[in-house]
Amino acid sequence: MGKVYYVSKNVGLAILALAATALITIVALSIAYNSEKTKNLSNHGGGVADTGTPLPPTTPFIPKDPWDHYRLPTSLTPVSYNITLWPRLEPGADGVYAFTGRSAVVFRCAMATDLIILHCNKLNLTSVRGHLAELSGLDGAAVPDIQRTWLVERTEFLVVQLRGRLTAGASYILQTEFRGELADDLEGFYRSEYTENGVKKVIATSQMQATYARKAFPCFDEPAMKAVFNVTIIHSRDTTALSNGQQIYSRDSVIEKTPVRVTAFEPTKRMSTYLLAFIVTDFSYNQFNQSDLLVRIWAQREAIERGHGVYALNVTEPILRFYQKYYNSPYPLSKLDQIALPDFNAGAMENWGLVTYRETALLFDPQLSSTGNKERISTTISHELAHMWFGNLVTLRWWNDLWLNEGFASYVEYLGVDYAEPSWNVKDHIVLYEMQRAFAVDALASSHPLSRGEEEVNTPAEITEMFNTISYNKGAAVLRMLSKFLTEGVFVVGLSSYLNTFAFNNTDHSDLWNHLQQAVDKTPGLEIPHSVKDIMSRWTLQMGFPVVTIDTRTGNINQTHFLLDPDSVVGRLSQFNYIWYVPVKWMKNGVEQEQYWLLQKSASVDQMRVSGEDWVLANTNVSGYFRVNYDQDNWDRLINLLSTDHQTLPAINRAQIIDDAFNLARAKIISTKLALRTTKYLSKERDYIPWESALGSLNYFILMFDRTEVFGPLQAYLRKQVRPLFEHFRTLTANWTIVPANHNDQYNQINAIDMACSVGVKECGELIKGWYRRWMEKPSHNPIHPNLKSTVYCKAVALGGVEEWDFTWQMFRNATLASEATRLRSALACTKIPWLLNRYLEYTLDPTKIRKQDASSTIQYIYSNVVGMPLAWNFVRERWSYIFNQYGKGMFSFAGLISGITKRFSTKFELQELEKFKEDNLRVGFGSATMALKQAIEKTTANIKWVTDNKAEVLQWFTEEAT
Ligand SMILES: *[C@@H]1O[C@H](CO)[C@@H](O)[C@H](O)[C@H]1NC(C)=O
Ligand SMILES: *[C@@H]1O[C@H](CO)[C@@H](O)[C@H](O)[C@H]1NC(C)=O
Ligand SMILES: *[C@@H]1O[C@H](CO)[C@@H](O)[C@H](O)[C@H]1NC(C)=O
Ligand SMILES: *[C@@H]1O[C@H](CO)[C@@H](O)[C@H](O)[C@H]1NC(C)=O
Ligand SMILES: [Zn+2]
Repeated sequence: MGKVYYVSKNVGLAILALAATALITIVALSIAYNSEKTKNLSNHGGGVADTGTPLPPTTPFIPKDPWDHYRLPTSLTPVSYNITLWPRLEPGADGVYAFTGRSAVVFRCAMATDLIILHCNKLNLTSVRGHLAELSGLDGAAVPDIQRTWLVERTEFLVVQLRGRLTAGASYILQTEFRGELADDLEGFYRSEYTENGVKKVIATSQMQATYARKAFPCFDEPAMKAVFNVTIIHSRDTTALSNGQQIYSRDSVIEKTPVRVTAFEPTKRMSTYLLAFIVTDFSYNQFNQSDLLVRIWAQREAIERGHGVYALNVTEPILRFYQKYYNSPYPLSKLDQIALPDFNAGAMENWGLVTYRETALLFDPQLSSTGNKERISTTISHELAHMWFGNLVTLRWWNDLWLNEGFASYVEYLGVDYAEPSWNVKDHIVLYEMQRAFAVDALASSHPLSRGEEEVNTPAEITEMFNTISYNKGAAVLRMLSKFLTEGVFVVGLSSYLNTFAFNNTDHSDLWNHLQQAVDKTPGLEIPHSVKDIMSRWTLQMGFPVVTIDTRTGNINQTHFLLDPDSVVGRLSQFNYIWYVPVKWMKNGVEQEQYWLLQKSASVDQMRVSGEDWVLANTNVSGYFRVNYDQDNWDRLINLLSTDHQTLPAINRAQIIDDAFNLARAKIISTKLALRTTKYLSKERDYIPWESALGSLNYFILMFDRTEVFGPLQAYLRKQVRPLFEHFRTLTANWTIVPANHNDQYNQINAIDMACSVGVKECGELIKGWYRRWMEKPSHNPIHPNLKSTVYCKAVALGGVEEWDFTWQMFRNATLASEATRLRSALACTKIPWLLNRYLEYTLDPTKIRKQDASSTIQYIYSNVVGMPLAWNFVRERWSYIFNQYGKGMFSFAGLISGITKRFSTKFELQELEKFKEDNLRVGFGSATMALKQAIEKTTANIKWVTDNKAEVLQWFTEEAT
């Protein structure tokens, strides 16, 4: 799945918090396993009897029967399905939007059994001769009678108990007929509504990952239960049906006296249920053919007419070409559809051959979209297309290895974009967007290893919890490191051998290690100190990462588990005692040295001993997933180098020096003053990546101090540092009349304006207010460049009053382009007027004002504002049970909500409030936010300590440096 993007790169300084410190929780398929569900425990065959009252959540449930376990028995394996679905895009007489369907699954019996268990959730099965399913044999296999069939709500199973046993080696067909609700819950087969030219439209679409295919038809809903799917969709004649394969026919027909069209699709390849997709819309498309491959971009008719699909189409072609070459494997299907949906929970979903996207992740308007929008579109497409092979063609056996699937796509997405847009330098962005975010979460004592044991991940909620920052971002960082120390060439040889060996099958992570190892063994001259598996185990089986310290006075190099809070206690044991095999790339006086492998706690390296003017820099190009510390002398030399000749160091290392220093200071390994000194050279820095990194690092100071007396001097210092950048861009853009040519300069222009306005550079405020006034005077003509809109809207609302807010709200209501609507929705949260913010919070519970899919992020925008934070906290506390129950079934990123809303917490009082909140809501529960709540308490505790220890020193430093 793609990530749900936090806030775009340019939404305002306070929001930058998300970039550096937030646990960006990705993908909000939260499952409510609240007490409601325990009401209906199965009372068949010795389960817990239904007592009529909810059981307290602490009552242990002891699974006895096969249907009490969440995993399917391995006695049966599906071979293929016939599925016919008929979604009704108008409500029936009972007011319910429904779909009906029929499914036949052919399965093989691997081990004799008298039980058939498959997944089925929220479907009303039609009873035939007293049973919920019909069984027949294939090739003359004898069929035992059905004794009983029933549904188990807790484990989401359909159980068929037979009077006799199925024969090992024989094949059978199980048929079902069912009716389900086409709900607007964004899960399984669901409906999405939108208006087009004032007319309400309904579409049927689907999201199966991770466990929702079972809500569309009864199936063996586990990734290793691959099968062939023959899909037929019945729909009205003015719509089009899409699925994973190409259509083989589409005919008019009359069913139940209704004129319909019946569209059948070619059989799919052997694939997992979570990659299926079914869509019925009246959308139109752009297309091209690449050899025999049909590629289409689908969206609402108006968007296609206006050409909003063209960029996606343009960029898909080279990205596909790149992956075919990179994987050394042709695109496995005969077509590729990509579709922009008005209601969609994840950022995007890699359904095989029919990829679904949020509109903002696929549609580009050359007049209205920004550079950031463009990069998001290309990276999302690149991420999803990477999965067409890695994930779809070869699939991890179980969700405990999710990190490998998502981490891999999150890494290679940068390679695909780099091929399609070579001038962007996006490969460097991985340091900002993947590594630094992973570091932030993985430095907590409550982090967890990338890889989990298969037995630790069972329930839908446990599966959902795997879609987190560690899986995506740390996964990407660790795989990038692997590719760097093996070298890219060897990495792709192993990768392609893995994909070709396991095509249409399932694997676990050790299969990838084996194939990479074979590639290493075949490469003369490539030496790694241990096997790929042994090296990687250190990074995947133990949580966290090391800080590598080089003492250039002695040549000593050592590693320690890096923890943001040095007093935190790591409860999790590691079989490796938190020692990693660390590939240390490094340079001396600007000259790259031979890579050094740090394999134990500490070692002595003569070449690292330097003196005089000589300096050492480790982790060049930030290729390793670790932080670096030095002795004071070397730090001084590096800081000196930054202020005299910063371009000697690669830009991503300048960025990393700042990020490392700030985090080392937070962990009390170096002084806060030393960290702050790494920002002194910024008045000379013009590059985007170091600035972005610095803003992320400084953001922690802003969050901790923007309600205190430190904030005045802090702002004054930043004003001094950012003014030259602001002036630089004023010149570069001929007094703000043109756009910088370079992609990264475009981003940094946004930073310059955003920062300058945030810290009160007067000309900046004037510039912004001028632009906004011109727009308000003539709403049909927006004078603000798309790149700058997010920032300008936000600052104008912040500096303005009710009139600006109302105008922005009006523009939001009128916006037709999704990304424009998002900017405006985010800007509305920037006002400093409390009653406006409170009213806006209430709007998030009213779907006619704020769409359900946007509720969570709107609250996030509000709490990112220093004035909005306490209001949002009260709002969420008061209504937790309501929000949780209303939205608990998939709309909300609860984990992101909790970690975000508490990110300024730094007083004892706030900690008490947080603990009370936890206590008060134990009964309601926290679902997928359980871990985030624990982390929030840990972080608040650390913040209290940090503020107590540092406030006086920081105040003094900013006061001195501000002048
Ligand atoms: C689906 O189609 C394939 C190819 O035509 C066929 O072999 C398979 O038996 C079909 N599946 C079912 C359940 O009929
Ligand atoms: C699946 O559908 C095909 C085509 O309609 C049909 O020939 C076949 O018998 C069906 N298979 C089963 C098991 O119903
Ligand atoms: C399924 O059955 C339940 C109970 O009879 C009913 O309330 C519900 O509306 C049915 N769902 C559909 C989609 O028909
Ligand atoms: C798409 O590609 C065409 C042909 O190269 C080019 O003219 C057009 O500007 C591109 N459009 C976008 C939005 O990138
Ligand atoms: Zn993904």
